[in-house]
Amino acid sequence: MKKIILVNGSPRKNGNTAQLLKSAAIGAQDAGAEVTTINLYALNFKGCTSCFYCKLKSKEHGTCAMKDDLSPILEEIKLADAIIFGSPIYFMNLSSGMIAFIERLIFSNYIYSTEIPTVFPKKLPSAFFYTMNMTKDHWEQFNMEHLAGMYERFSENVLGVKPKRLLAFDTLQFKDYSKYESSIFDEQHKIEYRKKFWQTQLDDAYKIGRELVIS
Ligand SMILES: Cc1cc2nc3c(=O)[nH]c(=O)nc-3n(C[C@H](O)[C@H](O)[C@H](O)COP(=O)(O)O)c2cc1C
Repeated sequence: MKKIILVNGSPRKNGNTAQLLKSAAIGAQDAGAEVTTINLYALNFKGCTSCFYCKLKSKEHGTCAMKDDLSPILEEIKLADAIIFGSPIYFMNLSSGMIAFIERLIFSNYIYSTEIPTVFPKKLPSAFFYTMNMTKDHWEQFNMEHLAGMYERFSENVLGVKPKRLLAFDTLQFKDYSKYESSIFDEQHKIEYRKKFWQTQLDDAYKIGRELVIS
């Protein structure tokens, strides 16, 4: 049975990112896979501390020397058949939890070699899901392609496969906007956008989950 790992880089266990990941999980399960979901914000871990243990010639490349809640998960990923990185956009970047996770996974399997830059033991199909307040126009205006492309290229270099991508714009941040100071948002527009596009995005997530398993 194939195994897919879904990584939720949002602290919200039922937020936008989590909902897309759940849909991908159903797609993967329908294709016969076993799904493991990792909620990064439920774990106690840090980003890379730059110890360079993973680059030492005398040690085993591909192993992160840091010992925390992420350690067994980094090993589990080496046995998986696919992975999805799901992150909300925070300050025009991935969430700090997702960045820390990527540092630990990708840097520990990357070596400064003029030959092959990766020691990851297999080719691992992947996808990046991004959820955000921004509209598609903002995504382009702020050149977010550069940011997403950068994370995706690092992942491709190490995991060996170009990641798939899902962009979810104009997400609902609050259930009831009237409770929060949020006058920069048009609640009515947010609700209508949700009604119009969310199911399509869940369907796209489902398809990606399925495709990652059958690819
Ligand atoms: C700390 C913080 C910073 C954020 N910064 C941005 C941002 O720079 N651009 C943006 O489009 N949305 C930003 N957002 C909104 C979230 O990206 C958006 O609501 C996302 O869909 C939340 O995902 P979740 O429901 O899975 O938690 C921010 C939210 C938080 C909490």
